[in-house]
Amino acid sequence: MTETLNPVERTALLTAALRAAETLREDRLYQDPYAAQLVGETGPELLAEIRRATFPAQGVRTVPSTPDYNAIRTRFFDDHLRNAVRDGAIGQVVLAPAGMDSRAYRLDWPEHIRYFEVDRPDVLAFKAERLSGVAPRVDHRTVAADLTAPDWEERLTAAGYRPDEPSIWLLEGLLYYIPEADGRRMLKRVAAHCAPGSLVAADIVNSAALTLPHMRPLLDVFEGWGCPWVFGSDTPEELFDELGFDVRAVQPGDPEAHFGRWPDPVPDRSVPGVRRVFFVHGHRR
Ligand SMILES: C[S@@+](CC[C@H](N)C(=O)[O-])C[C@H]1O[C@@H](n2cnc3c(N)ncnc32)[C@H](O)[C@@H]1O
Repeated sequence: MTETLNPVERTALLTAALRAAETLREDRLYQDPYAAQLVGETGPELLAEIRRATFPAQGVRTVPSTPDYNAIRTRFFDDHLRNAVRDGAIGQVVLAPAGMDSRAYRLDWPEHIRYFEVDRPDVLAFKAERLSGVAPRVDHRTVAADLTAPDWEERLTAAGYRPDEPSIWLLEGLLYYIPEADGRRMLKRVAAHCAPGSLVAADIVNSAALTLPHMRPLLDVFEGWGCPWVFGSDTPEELFDELGFDVRAVQPGDPEAHFGRWPDPVPDRSVPGVRRVFFVHGHRR
């Protein structure tokens, strides 16, 4: 079934391979017992290619460490989601996209949560096959949809999502693949389907990460796969503000997103021309 996934869909297998590798580390930031069964045939090959581009046998690393980035991102958003649903005000979780994420299966969730996983049909079918027999630990619903197509809101509502009730949305590992105009439209549609007080979280790179010559080894891998990084923002707070959200942006390596793992300096935001990635989190106004 792996072969039926297109390039951007296959990045979900890369993410699973990263989580499987993290789970084997003694100093792991989280444990994902399902990741290894979600990597498919190509996940390990994709990860090997990323490792070759990131850690050259000769020479120094010039691109961010994807393994460390992914470990920090997963742990950061694990903690964020758990904290967000703790006090009972938020009753709906939407992973858009879900990919091979296994939080519905590996984290504890309050009983009142309705949990939606949105992704393309082939991705969700592959995941269901790989996880058959594993019970989610939450009221779990899948929504087979393309987030740039006109009908995902209908499909989400048909699965039981209530736009008039507070929700938390996580857009993890998505925005860099979506052209800016589509990305903005999609975020606007998310905002339109969130009750005030709903929460949003996402990761997004800056524009230098898409253009700096020393980023080429990593950018070339994604381009070579057919899913280039095409969208970034230097001012994610403003981007989300324009679309209806009040957010903060932190960078891996900042105190609240370090976890003892980020290997690079984090220059002040005023320093131009530095590759960056942001974890954005905030609420719908
Ligand atoms: C890198 S994976 C991240 C998945 C998940 N959030 C995680 O962190 O494991 C990227 C995912 O985005 C999904 N995706 C990309 N473009 C999409 C679109 N237009 N609509 C729905 N899903 C999309 C792919 O199918 C893939 O599962």
